Amino acid sequence: MPTFIETQFPIARLSLESYKERRANNSQTLTGLGKWWGRKPLILVRASILGMLMSASDNPKKDREIFLKILTMDDDSTWQRCKGEIPVASLREAAPPEIQEEYFGTRGFKQGFTDEEKEEIVGQIWESLTEEERQVLDSQRRRPVPDRAAFDALPYAERLRHCERPENVTGPTATAWAEINAHLTTSANSLPELVEQLGQRTFGHTPRVGDCFCGGGSIPFEAARIGCQAFGSDLNPVAGLLTWASLNLLGGGKDVQEEVMRVQAESLTAADRQVTEWGIEHNDLGERADAYLYCVEVKPEGCDYYIPLAPSWLIGEKSKVVTRWRRVSGSDRLQPEIVMVTDAELKLYKEKKGATVVDSRVIDPFDPNRSWSVEALRGPEGLRRWTNDDIVPRPDDVFQERLYCIRWVKTVTGINAAGHPVTKSVRRYAAPAAADLAREAKVLTLLSERFADWQRDGFIPSKAIISGYNTEQPIRERGWAHWHHLFTPRQLLTHGAISEICDGIPCSREARVGSLLGIGRMANWNSRLSRWVPDKSKEGGSDTFSNQALNTLFTYSIRPILKWDTAWPVLTGVLLNSHPLLAKVNPVDARDIQENCDIWITDPPYADAVNYHELGDFFLAWYDKQLAKAFPEWSADARAELAVRGDGEDFRRSMVEIYRNLARHMPDKGLQMVMFTHQDPAVWADLGMILWAAGLKAAAAWTINTEYAAVGVKKGNYVQGTVCLVLRKRTANEPGFLDEVYPLVEDEVKRQIESMQALDEDGEPNFNDADYQLAAYAAALKVLTQYGTLDGKEVEHEVFAVRARNEKSDFEAVIERALGIACETLVPHGLDNSWRNLLLVERYYLRALDIESRGERRKGMYEELARGFGVTDIRPLLKSDKANGTCMHTPSGFAAAGLAPLSGDNTEVLPARRGRAAAGAAHPFAASPLRHLLFAIRETSAADNSPEAGRQYLRDTFGQGYWGRRERFIALLEWLAALGNAVGMNEWITDSEAARILAGRLRNDQA
Ligand SMILES: C[S@@+](CC[C@H](N)C(=O)[O-])C[C@H]1O[C@@H](n2cnc3c(N)ncnc32)[C@H](O)[C@@H]1O
Repeated sequence: MPTFIETQFPIARLSLESYKERRANNSQTLTGLGKWWGRKPLILVRASILGMLMSASDNPKKDREIFLKILTMDDDSTWQRCKGEIPVASLREAAPPEIQEEYFGTRGFKQGFTDEEKEEIVGQIWESLTEEERQVLDSQRRRPVPDRAAFDALPYAERLRHCERPENVTGPTATAWAEINAHLTTSANSLPELVEQLGQRTFGHTPRVGDCFCGGGSIPFEAARIGCQAFGSDLNPVAGLLTWASLNLLGGGKDVQEEVMRVQAESLTAADRQVTEWGIEHNDLGERADAYLYCVEVKPEGCDYYIPLAPSWLIGEKSKVVTRWRRVSGSDRLQPEIVMVTDAELKLYKEKKGATVVDSRVIDPFDPNRSWSVEALRGPEGLRRWTNDDIVPRPDDVFQERLYCIRWVKTVTGINAAGHPVTKSVRRYAAPAAADLAREAKVLTLLSERFADWQRDGFIPSKAIISGYNTEQPIRERGWAHWHHLFTPRQLLTHGAISEICDGIPCSREARVGSLLGIGRMANWNSRLSRWVPDKSKEGGSDTFSNQALNTLFTYSIRPILKWDTAWPVLTGVLLNSHPLLAKVNPVDARDIQENCDIWITDPPYADAVNYHELGDFFLAWYDKQLAKAFPEWSADARAELAVRGDGEDFRRSMVEIYRNLARHMPDKGLQMVMFTHQDPAVWADLGMILWAAGLKAAAAWTINTEYAAVGVKKGNYVQGTVCLVLRKRTANEPGFLDEVYPLVEDEVKRQIESMQALDEDGEPNFNDADYQLAAYAAALKVLTQYGTLDGKEVEHEVFAVRARNEKSDFEAVIERALGIACETLVPHGLDNSWRNLLLVERYYLRALDIESRGERRKGMYEELARGFGVTDIRPLLKSDKANGTCMHTPSGFAAAGLAPLSGDNTEVLPARRGRAAAGAAHPFAASPLRHLLFAIRETSAADNSPEAGRQYLRDTFGQGYWGRRERFIALLEWLAALGNAVGMNEWITDSEAARILAGRLRNDQA
């Protein structure tokens, strides 16, 4: 019996839930533990595991209903999850004084914050509260849509805006469990009980779920949380540490979490005491530093002063503070002036007034006509490489570094209008004074005194940077050859100090790991790569990995201890429903996995842009010796040479080896899911072949979109789809033959599409065009991958066969045929009767319009359709071919361009004609009947909707053939007439009206 996920998956709702989880940014469950790239949404993992454990019945609608109940994604549960929003007044009251003052007015939020910024502020407030305070705040929520019927009538995306995430509620209600148990013949009252019972039924034990590319740990963590035995491994020890922490800290239960928080709080207090004792962050006015801003400076040849570098000298949009530079006689160093400016002046600074780096050129601040290329300044040999002992630039280095601004803060107490004492924080920005520079020197001395010991003990990094795609950047752009060069002396001193303090606190391994991850978090939030963000809602430092690179900066910000309270803690409270988890983590190469699992869920680094092994080293440099102490059995090396990457032959070989190993380590009735984020649908055949060669067969494929906006596609962003390919083990290696395979593929594609259409018939649409196309691919994969050979050829041989460009393997040809079948099966509503008589290129145009009218604008989808219809040149049909803004020409948009005389042989059915124009010949669409019909619409529109000219044109063009085609023309015109009503099809409004009028005229036409 197939499992639920082999027959269907609630793609639409799941996509929206995944998107909601991702948008929660720092309040996602695992992100607090530390940075990893490409973590998968937990709700997607949860749904995938349950979908693989639950069997499909012969009632797909009921299955869907029950599945949604288990996930608390049905209508009743969504209502339960909608607790409503906390009134702004309550939020304000609960906020710490500095947040109150910064973001709130007397009535609510101060003006000018976007919804996203407000969400972030609420997150900050939430994080500052104790568990009891959170509960008090939580109890004040008000349901935004108090009426149940009105709530149910909202689209799911709208409803979700007001809902808790499924992981933050207790699960299905008792009534829901009764229904679930009745349908599944189980007796569960919780997810772990259900998982246990379903696992026993299929595998005879608690299901064991593994991930051999576990990264940030989403898959093993969620698997364990819903009651599976989980196994996670990853080549990279940083990923191993994060996964271990997810399972043993978040999954360690209340006592563990409390100990982690206690040890972290204790160490922060001790570090604060130490820094206060050193006197390096306090001044004589009773103020403390809460931000230090540094910049790079350079003295180009021919310039007799150092130019401080920045692409903008705006410090704070909200504070209206900027930096200006002035010359000091007798010195080659400029003097910064930190000043408040008028709104008009601020605007100029926002537009980069005074910028000293523009388009990779250094600009003389006193003579903008003088500039030097940054590249040339580095010299023909490049920069000197820093040695281990270098912690600041040497005097003769090209790039120097200086502190140019400090933000000071002081708490003052006063009496408010009502006569109550109030405290508030007063902040000011200032250029460093002599005493501050003396403190800088002291920091350097303190660090130098400890440097060698701390490197030996692993409290600060000592590793050299291995040059690679990303790691080459700091080496080339700054000469930083060791990881500690990415940190200023102040950062090394304070991070080293807290690391040493943590080492001295007796505690459990869990608490030790908590502190270690704290060090990693600090490294991310406090490095020479941490940008200063002057934006209104922020005015603060951002993290090193706000993107997936090691970009060097000309100005950067440093966090004094005062600002560690958000960056240092890995936990902000005890996790809801936290109970010890059954799990194991083992950082090994996926080729060496020895564990058996019933279900493998993996998210391989497929043709990935992220160089995990390089970026991970940023953290590993800090963990290094401490990691070895906590996990002596682990390798503390990233073993970059074993990392799976790229998409060439080496990649394919490693992948076949890895998946063959996983197939060996699962029972015959086991399942696998391979997740990957597809930018290019063409990568499909390749991945399919790899998995096929590894001894697996495809069972289904679903795409979950994680970049939805509530309405339509998020502007300016690619829609990111995660494809979830479900696989089983191929237990027999039957031979397959191409001529037999084609009809089977045809049947399977049709069956798959029909079953999806049936689920889509009522209620909100679950699948979009991309899903149908993917399903067609999956159906082809399903048929193909059950065979061991195809026409006598070994699959493995096919995977590694060397082919000329554009040469297709048989496998690719079958996949493409599947797409063709899907295209033929998916007829736009209302065109069923005309479809058969249309040329392929006409069908393409109409299908493309059909997807356009449903909001699809991704170019890749239009190209995929073209492949399905065999149209090789779509450019003449497209009005725009923007990556995320593709659309077709309208009749008036085409005007008369590319119109060619009707070709003689196209008066009847021509399904096999392919759409490539012969050299020099017109495009096949130009001579098609539909193209002439579009021209008649254009004529009608141009004649102020008088249909005569259009009708006459058709009669002249088609002669006697006109009468035989009239009914078909009318049907097409009516279909085109409806387009202008669709959302986002404004460009069609005029032509659609013309089409409606022309249709009326044709209907009344007489010979
Ligand atoms: C796309 S990420 C996985 C992300 C993960 N699913 C999550 O939710 O965080 C791919 C992972 O594969 C790991 N990796 C690369 N080569 C490997 C190998 N040979 N063996 C095991 N893991 C490897 C990388 O370190 C990276 O963490």
